[in-house]
Amino acid sequence: MSATLTGSGIALGVLSSSKIPKRVSSSPSNRCYINMSASADKKKTSFTLQKSEEAFNDAKNLMPGGVNSPVRAFKSVGGTPVFVDSVKGSRLWDIDGNEYIDYVGSWGPAIIGHADDEVLAALADTMKKGTSFGAPCLLENVLAEMVISAVPSIEMVRFVNSGTEACMGVLRLARAFTNKEKFIKFEGCYHGHANAYLVKAGSGVATLGLPNSPGVPKSATSNTLTAPYNDIEAVVKLFETHKGEISAVILEPVVGNSGFITPTPEFINDLRQLTKDNGSLLIFDEVMTGFRLAYGGAQEYFGVKPDLTTLGKIIGGGLPVGAFGGRRDIMEMVAPAGPMYQAGTLSGNPLAMTAGILTLKRLKQPGTYEYLDKITKELTRGILEAGNKSGHSMCGGNISGMFGFFFVEGPVYNFADAKKSDTEKFGRFFRGMLEEGVYFGPSQFEAGFTSLAHTREDIEFTVAAARRVLGRI
Ligand SMILES: Cc1ncc(COP(=O)(O)O)c(C=O)c1O
Repeated sequence: MSATLTGSGIALGVLSSSKIPKRVSSSPSNRCYINMSASADKKKTSFTLQKSEEAFNDAKNLMPGGVNSPVRAFKSVGGTPVFVDSVKGSRLWDIDGNEYIDYVGSWGPAIIGHADDEVLAALADTMKKGTSFGAPCLLENVLAEMVISAVPSIEMVRFVNSGTEACMGVLRLARAFTNKEKFIKFEGCYHGHANAYLVKAGSGVATLGLPNSPGVPKSATSNTLTAPYNDIEAVVKLFETHKGEISAVILEPVVGNSGFITPTPEFINDLRQLTKDNGSLLIFDEVMTGFRLAYGGAQEYFGVKPDLTTLGKIIGGGLPVGAFGGRRDIMEMVAPAGPMYQAGTLSGNPLAMTAGILTLKRLKQPGTYEYLDKITKELTRGILEAGNKSGHSMCGGNISGMFGFFFVEGPVYNFADAKKSDTEKFGRFFRGMLEEGVYFGPSQFEAGFTSLAHTREDIEFTVAAARRVLGRI
């Protein structure tokens, strides 16, 4: 398989004959897309993943499992992973020429829609000045200022290159600041793949049903304590058993990595109080929820201020980024202001900063979160009603543009509840929807995402497709 350079970038030989995807007309509001709604009740007839199958067979010899991140391999839902050719707005096209309404959104970043024209133009401008400086630039100040003024608890921020890095850094900082080594995380929450967090983790670990990963030394997790989500009594017990030893409690303030699970209001309020009372820090991992549930993230949405916060995904607008931030007195421990070491060759990268700035600017406009909430409510309500009508036990919900549903009656309060979901049925639903032109996350244990580019017609199309699929699985 040879790589060839084309005018528009690098194309692999295997892709050269792939259909050029139909381009979406771009409008300034980003809300005018291909008219799939006209055929909302018509089932697509020609669906093949032949080219994706060939590409996946090649990929399996080249990369472990054929992918560079486990959930992408479709292992838990069966079938062939879709090889993506391009994305625009709410749409995704694969190398066989199939078009999908996309509810993965690159796992969260694409909140204003894929390949937004303004973001692309700004990136092209920035790129003319270079792609990486390895030295301070003004764009870092701009994005830092935007993050600090948006997120209630963040007074200072450090940019890194991924959510994993952000979570790794924030834990070192919490331990450095409190001079304590233990920390509490929740079953089914995912905080990236740093050693200390790979205990009862969510996301790919949950999807693949893996036990804790080999290669993680016992010493790396000996200070990791776990409790079920939404179970404050379990957390109280851990604080009693490990009195004076717990540096921090970290959580996804709304879980997305074992499916979509919301906290009870008492749970996060009680965690705030408990950590305060015990001289521990409260960390919100807002890699997924930051700028997703509200402009100020989950902490604005719930009105609870953590001590430290991690961010990623949206603040990079689709380019690799992460961040951690929080109280000034804590953040001033980070090198070179203080002794806690953390560094990065590409941190504060001008392209990532540019995409982040443009994305946040769009999100700040009035009505964005109301729009996301409205369409996403219609989507989840429509799917759940269709499921009920077809006799499936289902539950689910949304906050703004983050959503999920389980094939179990519910309610789902934690990972143990989520695991009762009929994952075989989810697999059939997922594959059926794919054939209908709808791309959900290929796992029961991942949240879904809408964007400002999703239209009411997209939602109607999706619900109509869900009715058909749920009626036959
Ligand atoms: C809540 C949360 N934290 C951390 C991470 C890790 O981020 P990344 O994949 O950018 O390393 C993720 C990734 O999905 C996440 O959802």
